[in-house]
Amino acid sequence: MLSEQQIARFQHQGYLVINDFINADQRQQLMSQAQVQVDGFQPVANPTIFTTDQQQRVSDAYFLGSGDQICFFLEPEAVDQKGQWLVPKHRAINKIGHAQHILDPVCKQVIDQLPTAGLCEQLGMQQPRALQAMHIFKQPGIGGEVGLHQDSTFLYTQPLSCIGFWLALEDADRHNGCLQALPGGHRIPLKQRFFRNQQGGASFATLDASPWPEEPLQMLEVPAGTLIILHGQLPHYSAANTSGISRQAFTLHYVDQACAYAADNWLQTDLV
Ligand code: FE2
Repeated sequence: MLSEQQIARFQHQGYLVINDFINADQRQQLMSQAQVQVDGFQPVANPTIFTTDQQQRVSDAYFLGSGDQICFFLEPEAVDQKGQWLVPKHRAINKIGHAQHILDPVCKQVIDQLPTAGLCEQLGMQQPRALQAMHIFKQPGIGGEVGLHQDSTFLYTQPLSCIGFWLALEDADRHNGCLQALPGGHRIPLKQRFFRNQQGGASFATLDASPWPEEPLQMLEVPAGTLIILHGQLPHYSAANTSGISRQAFTLHYVDQACAYAADNWLQTDLV
């Protein structure tokens, strides 16, 4: 349960940090199960069998089909230009997504223990639906940067309703790519939408062309077990992990089923 102060803080700054939200046993279960999932992942032996365009189309199709699957996304630096693997498979995965919270029994059991839906209701959502899960590895040395974005860009409803839950499975600091956010930035209009285009791929549409405010981002350095709740319009970012320490996180994104979910959103799923 959130206190009135916590709700007010979320409404004021667009995010809320709650320490000790997920316990060590739950964190370990999620991390161990991610390793089991990666064990079963069979990567394409030689990615260069595709031309660049073909590779892009295959990547798009794989991504667009991942809304109701458990899929594996690689770090760009995991494979060289000749298609040779530069790191072992377990070090090559950027993230797993996007339906393991429903399809994977271990993952589902842990996630179902967390009171995230109730938190959504406290923050004003009428009918919370956990639409998207991601296990983010932020691998040591090659864990890539995630550019400044608003989560409602990817899960668009009318009116906007997305709320993100970012769970620190390991300590996150400025050296291994902790979250960074623009306090109060959730009052900025939604800048972009990511949608399924007519060509069978996905594109960004500009909704608001004004530049991001030139204000410093807040470093959200948090210990393992911390939950960060993110308003869907809050601009946030994470730098590449140049350290030797991984920074695993699990994210869950909710939308309000009382709002209209866009038929051309990239993520389409019947799973509940
Ligand atoms: Fe995000």
